[in-house]
Amino acid sequence: MSDVTSDDIMKGIPAAAGGSDGPVILGIESTCDETAAAVVRGTTLVSNIVASSMEEHARYGGVIPEIASRAHAEAFVPVVSRALADANMDLSDIDAIAVSAGPGLAGCLAVGVSGAKSLAWAANKPIYGINHVIGHVSVTQLQFGALPENTMALIVSGGHTSLLHIDDIARSIEVVGTTLDDAAGECFDKVARLLGFPYPGGPHIDRHARLGDPTALKVPMGLTQGRAGAEHPYDFSFSGVKTAVARWVEGRRADGKDIPVDDVCASLAQSVASVLSRKAIDACRSRGSDTLIVGGGFSANSQLREHLAEAGREAGVDVRIPEIKLCTDNGAMVAMLGSNLVTAGVAPSSPDFPIDSAMPLDSISMA
Ligand code: KG4
Ligand code: ZN
Repeated sequence: MSDVTSDDIMKGIPAAAGGSDGPVILGIESTCDETAAAVVRGTTLVSNIVASSMEEHARYGGVIPEIASRAHAEAFVPVVSRALADANMDLSDIDAIAVSAGPGLAGCLAVGVSGAKSLAWAANKPIYGINHVIGHVSVTQLQFGALPENTMALIVSGGHTSLLHIDDIARSIEVVGTTLDDAAGECFDKVARLLGFPYPGGPHIDRHARLGDPTALKVPMGLTQGRAGAEHPYDFSFSGVKTAVARWVEGRRADGKDIPVDDVCASLAQSVASVLSRKAIDACRSRGSDTLIVGGGFSANSQLREHLAEAGREAGVDVRIPEIKLCTDNGAMVAMLGSNLVTAGVAPSSPDFPIDSAMPLDSISMA
């Protein structure tokens, strides 16, 4: 179990981005392999602790839910108490608790939600079971300030690739597009496995892609061409991309040829980054949005960041990609969404709210 201190994670986040008042929210995250807790006051990050069980999964080539759930059970109390201690607070100083209720791994969610409910019950505080994916949108407020009206968001993580139109982050979200099969992160992780990289493979592909020729292989541009492309202008499909790269690699192996790993990574990264950025900017144009929020673990990808920065400049769209530590899963994203809900006067979740491992993206919090 490795952890990150508040000081580490808060470096580079301008204090001026947030206000000093607003509700004090304890955010708790346990959807996958990070146990995390943070305190946010209004739109200011006060403390942020992340413990990861990633190392325990690496040798299996993917996250093992049972191992992740056990790690959450171990880390929950130490992580929450450290987040409170770093904020110089105890539970009585908190206005509300927010916890990820979905989407995610059921056993993992159950640990975080049960722990959060116990705290809320013991301290007599309101609790919000929130949507983790919408938390990835909300976290950008800590770095860039309030969300403008009519904002588009591209969320790219291990499990999601989605375009969301945000009318009101506390009450109304429209799903503009989503992946029909593999998410971008999943596609990278699967190709990485084929190339022999450890899990998670996305960062390895990123690193090798920087050294290779992006035109070396012809990789399909998922769901951009022909009838399917026209019918799904804002949806994604990366399964064919993964299969095309896998066939090419396996074909060369069968012929006894070397695999030019850097070129394979560069060609894959080029295809995925250009499809993501093109569709995201098209979605902004279709809704007249001039702000694009980007979030989720895959938004750490350097090819995607470059493509989006350039496409945004050309289209006059303000592209807001948070610093990498806020892109990956953390408690700050949960607390920040909770802060929006409290400020907007949204009712807390009922004490018996469920977890939902497939929580729909237009559901912001549990009733
Ligand atoms: O949002 P996240 O931390 O966890 C989920 O909720 O899924 O995203 C994890 C995903 C993994 O697929 C990982 O390979 C990918 O993000 N990832 C990257 C990079 N850093 C993380 N993919 C490509 N390039 C990166 N630099
Ligand atoms: Zn996530």
